[in-house]
Amino acid sequence: MTMNILGYAAHSPTDDLVPLRFDRREARADDVVIEILYCGVCHSDLHSIRNDWGGAIYPLIPGHEIIGRVTSVGADVTRFRAGDNVGVGCMVDSCQHCAECEKGLEQYCEKGATFTYNSTDRIDKTITYGGYSEKIVVSENFVVRIPSALDIKAAAPLLCAGITTWSPLRHWKVTKGSTVAVIGLGGLGHMALKLAKALGADVTLFTRSVSKEDEARRLGADTVILSTAPAQMATVNRKFDLIIDTVPYAHDLNPYIPSLAIDGTIVLVGYLGGLDPVLQTVPLIMGRKAVAGSVIGGIPETQEMLDFCGEHGIVADVEMINIQDINKAYERMLKSDVHYRFVIDMASLKA
Ligand SMILES: NC(=O)c1ccc[n+]([C@@H]2O[C@H](COP(=O)([O-])OP(=O)(O)OC[C@H]3O[C@@H](n4cnc5c(N)ncnc54)[C@H](OP(=O)(O)O)[C@@H]3O)[C@@H](O)[C@H]2O)c1
Ligand SMILES: [Zn+2]
Ligand SMILES: [Zn+2]
Repeated sequence: MTMNILGYAAHSPTDDLVPLRFDRREARADDVVIEILYCGVCHSDLHSIRNDWGGAIYPLIPGHEIIGRVTSVGADVTRFRAGDNVGVGCMVDSCQHCAECEKGLEQYCEKGATFTYNSTDRIDKTITYGGYSEKIVVSENFVVRIPSALDIKAAAPLLCAGITTWSPLRHWKVTKGSTVAVIGLGGLGHMALKLAKALGADVTLFTRSVSKEDEARRLGADTVILSTAPAQMATVNRKFDLIIDTVPYAHDLNPYIPSLAIDGTIVLVGYLGGLDPVLQTVPLIMGRKAVAGSVIGGIPETQEMLDFCGEHGIVADVEMINIQDINKAYERMLKSDVHYRFVIDMASLKA
């Protein structure tokens, strides 16, 4: 049976989010039914509802940093039971058979992963709806465990901001003594500082916001560079093994390239579309430097990140909001006024 529940939806790229009753798909034998307690607010939610990337299907219910409690499980579910605290991130399914899925890199599934919202369910072809809602139904293969040591409200952003920054840190083998920089101190950026520091790296933040300097140090930055000040930029020449660029809009990458060490990599995780202005190639060639991209992380890697956060006591710095305040939160996000992730208390949906 489908279940009729309440969520918050966008009906067009220009409308505010408003309450909407909708049907969740029928639970199958391998599914976990989750009552959503908290949901983080990612800049991707805003890009999606504003249709920045094209392909938005309305009504669109965003939310992919989901923490909830299992209310029931299907007959074939073995790893979860009612009462467990669990998480769901950006994906709810993938083909499960291709070479990438076999490696636990479901985000790079050859057939395309099924995303938590604005995707089509592989089996019943219904549209997926995200975590700004009362409940979600997800195959147990895409549900992760939340370590009991963590405050579940503040753990919600680990499901996207955490894994999206953890995956490149691990892929580029960041360890004790590595030099890592992060561009942009928002949701992803603040998790990148915390995770890189906990891995033992020397960590720098590039920001446009002078006011964020003290906060950045508290969050793990050893050095803070105002990216709009060329004299400050010159002090980190050839320094970084890895730069994680979290900026959500097209911006000039050229000023950051001199700060990469020989063989260094700048990895883009913010969605930019085409680079503007163009990227000059000579500084890359003259230092065997690389520009890369990365999207979220696989399910095994997400559990690895959560367990690491459990051991190290790492969660996001969150500002709790009621669902009724979501449109104001987006306005603040557009002004880079996020400290450092909004999390919706889903109990407010019943208010
Ligand atoms: N690849 C993936 O898998 C993945 C996953 C999640 C999110 N994303 C994308 O990552 C991006 C960041 O997401 P988020 O949730 O961290 O966003 P956010 O909380 O809004 O933070 C972005 C930060 O970037 C800086 N910034 C904003 N506009 C800028 C501009 N025009 N030029 C330079 N810097 C700017 C600001 O930091 P300062 O004030 O410090 O400059 C801002 O706080 C989004 O595009 C999102 O869609 C990608
Ligand atoms: Zn996200
Ligand atoms: Zn696959």
